[in-house]
Amino acid sequence: MKDQENTKTSVTSGRHISCWLDSSEPFITAPLHEDIETDVVVIGGGIAGISVAYNLMQAGKKVVVVEDGNIGSGETGRTTAHLVSALDDRYYDLMRIFGEEQTKHVAESHKAAIDFIERTAKQENIDCDFERLDGYLFLHPTDKEESLEKELKAAQKAGVEVESFSVMPGIKDASRALKFHNQAQFHPLKYLNGLCKALVERGAKIYTGTKADKIDHKGIVTKEGFTVKADFVVVATNTPVNNKYVMHLKQYPYRTYVVGAKVKKGSIAKALWWDTGDFSQNADIAPYHYVRLQKLDNEYDLLICGGEDHPVGLAEQDKISEEDRYGLLEYWMRQRFDVEHIVYQWSGQVLEPMDSLGYIGRNPKDEPNVFIVTGDSGNGMTHGTIAGMLITDLIMGKENPWEKIYDPSRFKLFSSGKTYFKELIGGMINYLKQRPKDAKSVELLSIPAGQGKIVEIDGKKFGVYRDKKDLFHMVGAECTHMKCIIKWNGDEQSWDCPCHGSRFTKEGKVLNGPANDDLAYYTNEMDEKAGIND
Ligand SMILES: Cc1cc2nc3c(=O)[nH]c(=O)nc-3n(C[C@H](O)[C@H](O)[C@H](O)COP(=O)(O)OP(=O)(O)OC[C@H]3O[C@@H](n4cnc5c(N)ncnc54)[C@H](O)[C@@H]3O)c2cc1C
Ligand code: FES
Repeated sequence: MKDQENTKTSVTSGRHISCWLDSSEPFITAPLHEDIETDVVVIGGGIAGISVAYNLMQAGKKVVVVEDGNIGSGETGRTTAHLVSALDDRYYDLMRIFGEEQTKHVAESHKAAIDFIERTAKQENIDCDFERLDGYLFLHPTDKEESLEKELKAAQKAGVEVESFSVMPGIKDASRALKFHNQAQFHPLKYLNGLCKALVERGAKIYTGTKADKIDHKGIVTKEGFTVKADFVVVATNTPVNNKYVMHLKQYPYRTYVVGAKVKKGSIAKALWWDTGDFSQNADIAPYHYVRLQKLDNEYDLLICGGEDHPVGLAEQDKISEEDRYGLLEYWMRQRFDVEHIVYQWSGQVLEPMDSLGYIGRNPKDEPNVFIVTGDSGNGMTHGTIAGMLITDLIMGKENPWEKIYDPSRFKLFSSGKTYFKELIGGMINYLKQRPKDAKSVELLSIPAGQGKIVEIDGKKFGVYRDKKDLFHMVGAECTHMKCIIKWNGDEQSWDCPCHGSRFTKEGKVLNGPANDDLAYYTNEMDEKAGIND
C-alpha cells in the first residue's frame, strides 16, 4: 500500500496514495510572490477549478488559478473517476424533487460533461485513458425489486439511454440490473495536467502552493500577503471556504473508501458497476458500492472498488472504525470478482447535497461576481465539468438552461424529504453535545502511539496526537469553521470535523474546508507556546 507523510506540503489530503497520484506526475508551479490583477481568479485546482479556468480562457478571459497544494491534491486525486449520466441518486427521486423538465436538463448536463471531456482530451491531445463503456446498476439484496423498474422508467423519461438487463458481464452474484449506455471513465489527474498545460501555454497563470487566505468580491489575499485583484472570483475549493453558514446547512459530508486489487488483463469484461445501496444501513442515503477497471501494466489491470461510506467523523456510529472499512470492502469485492492481492487503499470525502444535485453558480448572500462550486455528491467529475461550462456562461453573460437547477440559492428541503433533515439535525446535535462542558477527559498517557484523542485540560478541549517517538502534538479541538469538536481519523491520520467536513493534519493545518484557518497547534517540544489557545 502506498502511503505518505501527512503534512500540508504533501500532494494529497490524507495518508494513503491513490492509484492516480501514483501513476502521474504532479503539476506544480511557483507560488505567487507579487500583487497581480486579472479578469477572473479561480481558487482551487481540482476538476472544478481547472475546468472553469479552461473554459474561461477559451472564452477570452485572463485567468489566474491559485491552489493551496498541487493540482489535483484535493478530492480529485482521491476519486474513482466514473463518468456517468447514471447519477448516484435515483432519477425517480430527481423527478419528484425537480419535475420532468428540469430532470431532463440534469441528464443532458451530465451527458454534455462526458462529451466535453472526450472532445477536449482529443482536441488538446491529452492521453488520459478516456474510454466509453456501459454502466450497470444492480440491485442490492436489501433493496426492493421495483426500484429498478421505477428507475428505468424515470431515467428513460429524462432522456437517458438505458435498458433492463439480466446477464451482467464481469460480476458474479448480481442478476437484475439496468444497463446505461455510453458512460465513460478516465484518469482524472492526467486529464487535469493536460488542461493545465493548455492553460499555461495560452497565457493563464497557475500558482500552486498558494493559499487564498482572504476571499471577497474584489479578489483574494494569499497567506503570504500577496493580492490578486479580479473582476470575477470563482471559489472551487470543493466545500466553499468563503461561505461560512448558508451552504454548509444544505449539504452533509461523507467519508468513502476505496481498494484497488490486481486482476489479470482481460479476465474481467470492461464496464462500470454500482449497486442500488444498502437499505439496512440507511434507508435514506443507502451507501452503495462502485467498481471499475483501470490499466496497471502489461500483465495486470487494477479493479477499483469503492464504498462503505459514513458521515464524516462518525465511523463509530456503526461500530466499524475507519481502518476496518477496507477489510469490508475487500470482502465484498472478493465475493463478486476474481482478484489477486490489494495494491491500493485510500479514502476521500464527498458532500451530499440536500436535494441530490451540485451547487454551481453565484454565492448566496454575496456580491454577484462571486461564484462557487460544491455539493458534488459522488458525481464530482461531471459536476465539476458542468461548472466549467455553466460558470463561464454566467460570467460571459450568456443564457444557460442549467442555471436554475444548479443555483446554490435553491432550497428544496421539504421536497427532498427526511434524509437531509435528519443529517441537519444530527449535525446540530453534535454541535451542541460536543461543546466542552460535558466533555469526558482522557488521560494523555492512555493514548496509544500513532493515535489521537480529544482530551480536556483545565476546561478546554484539545486534540492530542501521540507520535511514535512519544511526542504529543496538540491542536485546539474546536474546528475553526463553527467550533464543532474535531474527531481523530486513525486511518488517514487527520483531525476530521463531523459537522461540515473540515479536516486538519495532526499539526492542525487545514486539509479540507469549509474551515479556512488552521487549528492552534503545539507540541511538548515547544512549551513556550503552551498558552496558544488561551
Ligand atoms: C473515493 C471517492 C470516489 C469518487 N468517485 C467519483 C466518481 O466515480 N465519479 C465522480 O464523478 N465523482 C466521484 N467522486 C467525487 C469527486 O471526486 C469530487 O466531487 C471532485 O473531485 C471534487 O472536485 P473539486 O474540484 O470540487 O474539489 P477538489 O478536487 O477537492 O479541489 C479543491 C482544491 O481546492 C484547494 N483549496 C482549498 N482551499 C483552498 C484555499 N483557501 N486556497 C487555495 N486552494 C484551496 C484544495 O487544495 C483542492 O486541491 C469521488 C470522490 C471520492 C472521495
Ligand atoms: S466544518 Fe463546520 S464546524 Fe467544523
